[in-house]
Amino acid sequence: MAIIRIERAVYGVEDVAECTRFFEDFGLDPVRKSDTAVGASVELATRTGQIVELRPLDDPDLPAGVEPGSTIREIVWGVESQADLDRLHAELSRDREVTVDGDGVLHTVDETGYGIGFAVVAPQDSHDEDSQPIARPVNQHGDVRRWNAPIDPFGRVRPLRLCHVALNIPKEGRERATGFYLDRLGFRATDVVKPMGTFMRAEGDSDQHTMLLCHRPDRAGLNHTAYEVRDFDEVVLGANHMIEQGWREARKLGRHTVGSNVFRFVHAPCGGRVEYAADMDRADDSFETRVHETTPPHHIWTLQTNREQTNRDNDREGEA
Ligand SMILES: [Fe+2]
Repeated sequence: MAIIRIERAVYGVEDVAECTRFFEDFGLDPVRKSDTAVGASVELATRTGQIVELRPLDDPDLPAGVEPGSTIREIVWGVESQADLDRLHAELSRDREVTVDGDGVLHTVDETGYGIGFAVVAPQDSHDEDSQPIARPVNQHGDVRRWNAPIDPFGRVRPLRLCHVALNIPKEGRERATGFYLDRLGFRATDVVKPMGTFMRAEGDSDQHTMLLCHRPDRAGLNHTAYEVRDFDEVVLGANHMIEQGWREARKLGRHTVGSNVFRFVHAPCGGRVEYAADMDRADDSFETRVHETTPPHHIWTLQTNREQTNRDNDREGEA
């Protein structure tokens, strides 16, 4: 019953229009607008067809939130086949209510109370009408991939994949909350950080982590959702664009220690933060779980600058 990817992230939000503008600026593609009992809902897509769904906070069709205000209400996981879905239905029905909606999607809750769903992975939607190659060749000494071609100016950043989600869970019961994903849903623990949380990879995914359950803040709530972009340039450019549109940076450019991904975070009006990510470690079943007694450094590096000081110095030089 391999879970392959995040298929859909469903938010309940105070201001659907503002959150729509946020994710459009972020680079997602609005694909559908619908009416709920209490107002409009909007769906936006990554370039590989995963959906971010924004629904009104008080939509009675939403699962309950684990925290008040705008936040994540459900993560729908994509599986390969209907047989996978049937096995999950049988497994989860042993100890919790599982409903099936008109589209055949399973819905239930995890041990913390987060809404979770399961759906057969939708056919890869083609959002490549701009014909941009997904991977841009990189020149490194000893491994030249881009001959006789300069880098063209970059267009708008459009996230390829919703690649991981980080959820906060209470310390109390964290083993049970984490065990649900590892023992019942087939996730593989990649890095267990005892004072902080567990990074885990969905069985059918190769990212070093598809999910982080983080108990450091000792409460349930959305930490962040992360979106893979093509490369380092797009991590920088995506967040630059968000800043230009008036959104607030949450964590400046850096490279994580666990997962090795380059990151840049932006505060999100839908709750938590969103992350532009690139160049994450990939892992398969030969990867052995690493257990950390203490929390590794958050990053290998982050951007440092003394440019503002230098500019003041330059200005003074210009005046002299
Ligand atoms: Fe992340």
